[in-house]
Amino acid sequence: MARNRIALIGGGQIGGTLALLAGLRELGDIAIFDILDGIPQGKALDIAEAAPVLGFDADLSGAKSYDVIRGADVVIVTAGVPRKPGMSRDDLLAVNAKVMVAAGHAIKRYAPHAFVIVITNPLDAMVFALQKASGLPANRVVGMAGVLDSARFRHFLADEFKVSVEDVGAFVLGGHGDTMVPLVRYSTVGGIPLPDLVKMGWTTRKRLDEIVARVRNGGAEIVDLLKTGSAFYAPAAAAIEMAEAYLKDKKRILPCAAYLDGQYGVKGLYVGVPVVIGADGVEKVVEITLNASEKAAFAKSVDAVRVLADDTFRLEPALG
Ligand code: APR
Repeated sequence: MARNRIALIGGGQIGGTLALLAGLRELGDIAIFDILDGIPQGKALDIAEAAPVLGFDADLSGAKSYDVIRGADVVIVTAGVPRKPGMSRDDLLAVNAKVMVAAGHAIKRYAPHAFVIVITNPLDAMVFALQKASGLPANRVVGMAGVLDSARFRHFLADEFKVSVEDVGAFVLGGHGDTMVPLVRYSTVGGIPLPDLVKMGWTTRKRLDEIVARVRNGGAEIVDLLKTGSAFYAPAAAAIEMAEAYLKDKKRILPCAAYLDGQYGVKGLYVGVPVVIGADGVEKVVEITLNASEKAAFAKSVDAVRVLADDTFRLEPALG
């Protein structure tokens, strides 16, 4: 059986880590595209040279031409620029929306049957832009945010309780930004919901509130430490988990930025919700019951995402 093909649009910090992780997990052959000549070729060769030591077989290629993504089964998009000093929010939206248009057109041309995972920020708007530009069905284009946000939540909880990260489950809804909604009620340690752990005296409500605030600020915390860039190990790991769920038809339930067509009372927008990922892409949006305060927080997050998406579509005429 021929190997699957994983294409990475963007060969920067996350792109390079994605290539290494896809190799280590033996997800398939790997192609890296970047506009910087030498970077995709160099990273592909470097990882290919690690393969004999690490013990995996994969064909690695890198190019400055979109042709390299031809026939990909999964495409992961990290291409774009970060916000630089002096750049307004709208400048960033306009620049990265243009990158999504180019990537979307290339995917339509070279990999129209792929499952596409977008990581480029601002995530909820960029995944929508890419879906529009590619013309791919919405169930085949998702955004990576919730797996990362809930992984951060899980790490902080495991650290708080001094238990294995494997025994911690965490739930995050909404947009990928400071309006995200970490759901305490649906997050568990060893299957025990967090509010019960407060009753058991393991922690306090105040401590949980501090952890939730840290999850919301998770991206900025890393930027403050790194100073020259943003997180890349955890975002790459999160996207690889989503790619694997698709390629192996695992039907994992993962929080992703997915297109909502009435679910959660939202129509025509990409927002972070739990979905089932299997061989058909997003096979189902899982609708959980929210209480009044969770509903209010989710609605606020949806409003923020809608403003971002509207501005992106206004700024990039090709999406109209
Ligand atoms: N086409 C292809 N690649 C591009 C384009 C383009 N039009 N424009 C920029 N790139 C490439 C850059 O050359 C760079 O190699 O995208 C890559 C981005 O890599 P980094 O700057 O290292 O950023 P990274 O840390 O990988 O994050 C990528 O993910 O989490 C988000 O906010 C983050 O939007 C950012 C994205």
